Parts: sequence; structure tokens; C-alpha cells
Amino acid sequence: MRRQAAATRGAENLEPLLATKEIVIFCGSGGVGKTSMAAAAALEAAVRLGGRVLVLTIDPARRLASALGLEGGLGNVERRVPDDVLKQAGIEPRGELWAAMLDTKQGWDDLVLRHAPNEETAMRILDNRLYHNITARFVQSHDYIAMERLFDVHATGKYDLIVIDTPPTRNAIDFLEAPKRMAEFFGGRLLRWLTMPYRMGRGRGARVINVASRPFYQLADRILGSQFLQDIAEFFLNFQSMYDGFVERAHAVERLMHDRRTTFAVVTTLEAAPLREAEFFMEELVSRKYHLGALILNQTLPAYLRSPEGARVADALVADPTPAAGALVELGIPALSEPDRTARVLHTVGESFRNFAVVATREAELRAELAEAPDVVVDVPRFEGDIHDLAGLAEAGRHLFGESSGNHR
Ligand SMILES: Nc1ncnc2c1ncn2[C@@H]1O[C@H](COP(=O)(O)OP(=O)(O)O)[C@@H](O)[C@H]1O
Ligand SMILES: [Mg+2]
Repeated sequence: MRRQAAATRGAENLEPLLATKEIVIFCGSGGVGKTSMAAAAALEAAVRLGGRVLVLTIDPARRLASALGLEGGLGNVERRVPDDVLKQAGIEPRGELWAAMLDTKQGWDDLVLRHAPNEETAMRILDNRLYHNITARFVQSHDYIAMERLFDVHATGKYDLIVIDTPPTRNAIDFLEAPKRMAEFFGGRLLRWLTMPYRMGRGRGARVINVASRPFYQLADRILGSQFLQDIAEFFLNFQSMYDGFVERAHAVERLMHDRRTTFAVVTTLEAAPLREAEFFMEELVSRKYHLGALILNQTLPAYLRSPEGARVADALVADPTPAAGALVELGIPALSEPDRTARVLHTVGESFRNFAVVATREAELRAELAEAPDVVVDVPRFEGDIHDLAGLAEAGRHLFGESSGNHR
């Protein structure tokens, strides 16, 4: 069973937060590690907290998808990562890890099937030539479907914890607004305007377009062809039949995002641009009364770069590398046999350590400045290679949860 944690505030790992929440939304700018961190957090939660944990990924790299058993276009189907696959990676979870990949097209189809007044209308919408085009182009289509899907999965009550990745939007705020935009879009003026000639002309013969005397429609008719406009109109008229369902649903999705069982984890690197975006995003979350649970600083420099002992070694190498070079020459390793060259390399090593130490110190300062808003701040260092398999996720997971009480290794 899942443990209940006391206060999460001030914790340096995600464990207490994930033990007390049902939904964690991972967000941040593109490329900072949202997908990797979400998967790592879910895996580690399954390992340490137990229960049924689902990671809903959006755009995992191919190898990561296949490590989670999600290759081959599974649509929105959730798959359990088999215990023996985890075991092979040295992982023995107390609970179950499940994974699914968001399929936006499937998500829209499901929505239409759910909200259309009858099957015939649903089929007319799904078969409309414009349907796919418009839903794919609807700004924040991805964002909305991701949240919608989250709502759906949460409502099944099947999972103790759902960790959701977010789409690579230009602006992380976009998806907070997606449900509202969705409601606006389907109830809005644009729709009414586009469908007006058809609503006016309904039942008065095939060339309903003639009813609209406005220049726009005449022009559009000439340029795009009346079939095109008719497709649009039919599409929107059918879509309007789902309006109430859609809007109600969008509001429910919005409420779930604000629910006390839901929290946000903002992921960022310490580079200037993503960091600025993360700070802005955290402010927005707080001012819009979402729960800002965690800030994850990904790809940070390792802490040993800031140790005084390390600095002393670097200082000694920079001040006079000769004794150390002499000692290395003594070892009789062919590549190190030339004292001057070895000394120069050691000098450079010492200098570059110092340079890294400066950056690491700056990172630590930034971290301290950032630590105020969220309940939890966690660092994950940059690893040698990509995070593309279960072992890589487990390693990142250990950093997210801290070293204590792990069940793997
Ligand atoms: N701490 C890390 N160390 C090394 N590579 C990382 C780390 N975090 C993420 N990556 C790699 O960076 C790339 C982008 O990560 P990803 O999780 O896909 O970001 P996002 O979902 O935010 O776009 C991936 O190749 C991933 O393996
Ligand atoms: Mg991603």
C-alpha cells in the first residue's frame, strides 16, 4: 500500500510529494527533460511507493518508448511494464509500472464518439475531410487532448498515481489555458461566423451559400470552391451538436488540474532561456492557484565541483603541476612518460576544474534563489549519455527520490 507522507514542504526529494498526490503534471520548455523525468519519477514511485503507477508520455524518444514497451503505435492503450523486463534492468518494484503514449488523433476520435448526440453524427464528423485537419491544427490540440486523456484515465480510478508528461509547446503556459480555449473555441464567434450562411440557409436548397450575400463568403466560394465551404459548415454544425458536452468536459478538466490531488513539477535546466521560462511559469502557476509541487533542475553539474577539497587539488595542479607529473611518470605508463607534456595537461585539467567550479557555484546560487516557490527542489545531474532505457530511468529516479531506502541495486 502507498505510504502517506507528512509535510512535503522543504523536502529535497519527490517521494513525499508523490506519496500524497494522485496526479503530477511535468512541464517546462522543450528539450529540458520533461519526458525523461516524468518516466523516471513514475518508475521510482512504482519502486518505492508501490501501488499502480502510470506514466502518460507524449513524445518519448524511440528507444525510451521501446524500453517502456510502447513501440508500434499503440494508440492510447496503457501497458504494464512486465516485472521480468524490470528485473533484467535490476529493478524490483513494490508496485506496478504502467505506461501509455498520447495519441492525439485517437484522443479526438474518442471525444467525438463520446459527445456526439448519436452514432450517425459521430461518423459524419469522423469522416469529414476537414475533421483531421482542423483538429490537428486547432492550436493547443495536443495540450487539450493530453489533459482530457488525463481526466479520462484518472476517472477510471485504476491508478494510485498518474505522472503526465506535457507536449513540447512553445510556451508552457499554453496548456494551462487549453481547456478554457477549447470551450471558447467551440462556443465562440469564429464558429458561429463560419457556419452562419449554412444556418441561415438550411432547408432552402443545395446552394445555401447564395444566401450569404457577404463578400467574404462570395470570395471564399470562388477561391475555395463551395464544396470546401460546405465541408467546413457541415463539420462545424455537427461539431456544435457536441458543444455542451465539450464545454462541460473542458470545465471538468480544468477543475481536475486545480484539484488538491493534482500537483505540478516544473522541469528546467539552468541555462538562461529555459530557466527564465521556468521562473515565469512557476509564477503563473502560483498566481493561477495551481499547486506548484516541485522544481526539477535537470542536467546540473555534480556537487563535487563545489567541494573545497576539489578546489585545493585544482589549485595545486595549476600552481605547480610538476610534482604530480613526476609522480605519474614514475608509474611507467607509456602515454604519461613525457614529464613536460604531462605537466601541461595536468595544469589544464586544474584550470578547467576551476572553470567548472565557477559555473557550479553559479548554479548553486541560482538554485537557492529558485528554492522559495515550490515545495520541493531536486537536482538531477547530467549523465554521460542519453536516458533511453530502464537502467537510465532508474538512475535518474534515484536522484529524484534521493538515495535512501531504494529497492533496486
Ligand atoms: N540528466 C540528463 N542527463 C543526460 N541526458 C539527459 C538528461 N535529461 C534528459 N536527457 C536527454 O535529453 C534529451 C531531451 O530529453 P527529453 O526528456 O526528451 O526532454 P523534453 O521532453 O523536455 O523535450 C533526451 O535525449 C534525453 O535522453
Ligand atoms: Mg518530451
